Amino acid sequence: MVTAKKFLFALLAAFALTLSGCKKAPGGDQSADAPIRVGEVGSLTGLEATFGTSTHQGIELAVKKINAEGGINGRKVDLITLDNQGKADEAATATTRLVTQDGVVAILGEVASSRSLAMAPIAQSYKVPMISPSSTNPAVTQQGDHIFRVCFIDPFQGEVMAKFALNGLKIERVAIMTDVKNDYSIGLVEFFRKNFVEGGGKIVMEQSYSNGDTDFKAQLTSIASHNPEAIFVPGYYGDVALIARQAREVGIKAPLLGGDGWDSPKLLEIGGASLNGSYFSSHYSPQDTSPRIQGFIKEFKDAYGLVPDGLAATGHDAMLVLADAMKRAKSLTPSDIRDAIAATKDFPGVTGNITIDENRNARKPAVVLKIEDQKLVYETTINP
Ligand code: PHE
Repeated sequence: MVTAKKFLFALLAAFALTLSGCKKAPGGDQSADAPIRVGEVGSLTGLEATFGTSTHQGIELAVKKINAEGGINGRKVDLITLDNQGKADEAATATTRLVTQDGVVAILGEVASSRSLAMAPIAQSYKVPMISPSSTNPAVTQQGDHIFRVCFIDPFQGEVMAKFALNGLKIERVAIMTDVKNDYSIGLVEFFRKNFVEGGGKIVMEQSYSNGDTDFKAQLTSIASHNPEAIFVPGYYGDVALIARQAREVGIKAPLLGGDGWDSPKLLEIGGASLNGSYFSSHYSPQDTSPRIQGFIKEFKDAYGLVPDGLAATGHDAMLVLADAMKRAKSLTPSDIRDAIAATKDFPGVTGNITIDENRNARKPAVVLKIEDQKLVYETTINP
């Protein structure tokens, strides 16, 4: 009797231990029919709310498609989305929570490089793979061998806009405005400046601001006195829209140039006519007639009633690349999924074919968009 009781007790204790073990281990419940938990961290509210919202819609659309087609080896994808309010410390907290409480096998996010930089060391320390859909600062994927992205990086994006200004617009005198609170802006300015000056251009004036500022008149007045042919402003859409309006108010007629951070329906809503004649680089153009892009636009319109921006497209691609990796992975543990993401070759994404290189980045073309009559117009594609 005593032995049987002891045995039962030991069995129960072992069972309880297994249960609690499962809950804490990254990767969560690995039983054959349990849903696969995927985490997402984004700015669904705050200064860059359209970044998080568009990205989430792109990811959600992909999850619905994957699940409707039977999931990953018969298991459904369960997406757990956390809002960081556009704050780096909240992005870090959300990452820890997704791993330690929700047991996710992988994390998608963030858009803004500064927030991806806050998340990456945490994902890396738990050895849970993270894929940023659209963070372009080179340092993001340098945080460790579990950190990936499905977009191009800023040394390329800076070169694209410098060459476009010099050769496409035949511009030689440029002023620069940097968002000094933003790793993306600081990096992109550095790569633009280097390429523009090496190509024979001159930077006539540099000014700075901080994300969330509302009065840019002092900087713009000082820029106006140097009479540049264009102003390079690689910031986020909310600030850029106000800068454009105030530039016109102080009498600057020169166009503004920028990067993917301009990509938001709010840019034109807030900036209005002041952005006509300006240009920025981005991840895709909805005017591209390729069946892959037009097919995605149709699915997205059916689901959300609007034309997807570049963030929706890169978010969609990040989830599709993860799903493809999970299907190829030896098992659905975070480390096997990591290895499968690293082996991604020529995956047909909406924003181009995606091959993950040895630095865990994707090599892809960039598009340049022009703003005309308060609309985005496709200008050109530049290959790496
Ligand atoms: N590339 C930007 C960054 O790294 C984020 C971004 C991507 C914003 C695409 C808009 C569109 O911070």
